[in-house]
Amino acid sequence: MQQVLKYLEQNQTRFIGELCDYVRFPSVSAQPQHKGDLAACANWLHQHCQSVGLRSRLCPTEGNPIILARTFQQASRSRPHFLVYGQYDVLPAEPFELWQSPPFEPRIAGRSLFGRGACDNKGQHFAHLKAVEGYLKTGTELPCELTFLIEGEEEVGCTHLGAFLKSNREELKCEAIVISDTGIPSLKHPALTYSLRGIAAIEVEVRGPSRDLHSGIYGGSVENPAMALCQLLGKLRDKNGRITIPGFYDDVVPLTSYERKQLARLPFNEKEHRDFLGVPKLFGEKGYPPVEQRSARPTLEINGLTSGYQGDGSKTIIPAWARAKITMRLVPNQKPARIIKLAQQHLKRICPPAVRLEVKPGHGGEPYLVSPTSRKAQAALRALKTAFGCEPVLLREGGSIPIVTDFKKILGADALMLGLALPDDNPHSPNEKFSLDCFEKGMRMGAWLWQELAQN
Ligand code: BES
Ligand code: MN
Repeated sequence: MQQVLKYLEQNQTRFIGELCDYVRFPSVSAQPQHKGDLAACANWLHQHCQSVGLRSRLCPTEGNPIILARTFQQASRSRPHFLVYGQYDVLPAEPFELWQSPPFEPRIAGRSLFGRGACDNKGQHFAHLKAVEGYLKTGTELPCELTFLIEGEEEVGCTHLGAFLKSNREELKCEAIVISDTGIPSLKHPALTYSLRGIAAIEVEVRGPSRDLHSGIYGGSVENPAMALCQLLGKLRDKNGRITIPGFYDDVVPLTSYERKQLARLPFNEKEHRDFLGVPKLFGEKGYPPVEQRSARPTLEINGLTSGYQGDGSKTIIPAWARAKITMRLVPNQKPARIIKLAQQHLKRICPPAVRLEVKPGHGGEPYLVSPTSRKAQAALRALKTAFGCEPVLLREGGSIPIVTDFKKILGADALMLGLALPDDNPHSPNEKFSLDCFEKGMRMGAWLWQELAQN
């Protein structure tokens, strides 16, 4: 083990250079013009896995290829087997003008590596890959077998991964799936995330006149779809921050007192949080502290709102239509399909008669909850403590990784979520970065993890 740690330390500079090479690929899965970049990125990673000493396979799908890189021969697997899941696709970098340096020209400043995808998720799974390189290149025996499963469609809903898991079920059977794609409160608070929120998306469209109308000639005698939509959406949440859709909270399981106690250990300073977000005041469901509001309570957010004229100057019209994109974050045991149905029914009920309403169901993902006190969770906590040199915390996260419930259903295995993202890493935002301290500690955590997990 000492040899592995020494190897990781001695090769830091090269590892950082390689991570920069990886981040340089504009592997944006949402934009068709980057299809070739995704293929090139997958190919680079596949070859990199081979050079590390893994048996890597580039698996084509109808979408972007999936990389399977493992420590064992096809049929020879006698030791416990763990999966490491990651994604090589990234979110679009727009708006480009808000980046201090180009998103696909990685830049190092202090202990931060800036670039789209540096944190979400290239840097995080790359730390695991380097930890395993440490074993393979020093001839240190791994106490278990590993498979890296790195996909290229996470940011567009893991379109082809479910089918891939089903058709490779036998080969992928494992004890647990390790995922580093969540956050830690600070370098002094490494974390095991044991719950994620789920998600349910809808699109609401309100249609009025058959075309945009002169707002002077007709205004006053027809309903304005933008106004009707605003009033409709305004009714979805009350002044206490509670969602008003009947039945919305029916399946919410309250936190246990053990969980409350764990969450209370997290560092939180209201003023700092407010300043960090740039808001004059925090807002959330009454009766719950902010830490719970953003991880253990369900929400409804408007992600986009469009209607009428948005260009220069003014244009006096009654718009023909208005549209909103909405996602609801769900907590155990809410079910996306039921929540979408409840939202549809409620919106139909309260829609004013002078407009037509259409509610289109969108993607969904179930919330996830796993025991934070299982033997595997304990093993992971020990690895975190050794690598970071301080006591880890238990986290519920507000974000969603819908594929974790597929892993559970198809492979029967739970996820160990050991994220390496700091609160100011800006995933999905301009100036995304990854902390080189997290990279370094993440590699060490990766190295210790297999020792701890295999002992169980
Ligand atoms: N890494 C995130 C998910 C995440 C972020 C989990 C922070 C926990 C804490 C992932 O890449 C992501 O962005 N997921 C999307 C999923 C959605 C598009 C279905 C999300 O949460 O919005
Ligand atoms: Mn993401």
